[in-house]
Amino acid sequence: MKIIKKVSNSPEETFDIAFELASRINNPCLIGLTGEMGTGKTCFAKGFAEGLGVKELITSPTFLGISESYSGRFPFIHMDFYKKVVLRNLIEHFQKNKSIVLIEWVDNFEAVFKEKLNLEINVLIQYLKDKEGLILENKREIIIENSL
Ligand SMILES: Nc1ncnc2c1ncn2[C@@H]1O[C@H](COP(=O)(O)OP(=O)(O)O)[C@@H](O)[C@H]1O
Ligand SMILES: [Mg+2]
Repeated sequence: MKIIKKVSNSPEETFDIAFELASRINNPCLIGLTGEMGTGKTCFAKGFAEGLGVKELITSPTFLGISESYSGRFPFIHMDFYKKVVLRNLIEHFQKNKSIVLIEWVDNFEAVFKEKLNLEINVLIQYLKDKEGLILENKREIIIENSL
């Protein structure tokens, strides 16, 4: 497993880090994103999708928590488990279809079903704080665990 730690200083940098990761991916895979509200998971998803060549606009998935895009190098399935966690069967359905499945709030899967998903790439995004413990508005630490 390869672990990469990066500091992002802006939404654009987070986008670029994700874009670069996606541009090197040649296989369908399952990617989990974990991090508090507002850390930049959706921003990461946008950069990642663009790195796959997806042409559709990527936004937060709708109330169903799933959006599908088919204009890139792989089908790109973007899920968000903040409000609703989908069944493993549905994730497997997309995997059989050779998709890249990227899941925001993936830690909610384990919380709900008490079992872990087998993620090929696990991304953790965290706020960074100053010496007084105050959140630095535009800085994030991005940790990418990649087992591909
Ligand atoms: N370094 C950074 N990386 C990502 N987003 C950042 C960064 N700095 C500031 N932001 C802002 O934080 C917010 C992240 O929103 P979003 O991607 O929707 O987060 P999440 O999906 O984790 O809730 C955006 O308003 C973005 O402009
Ligand atoms: Mg989000």
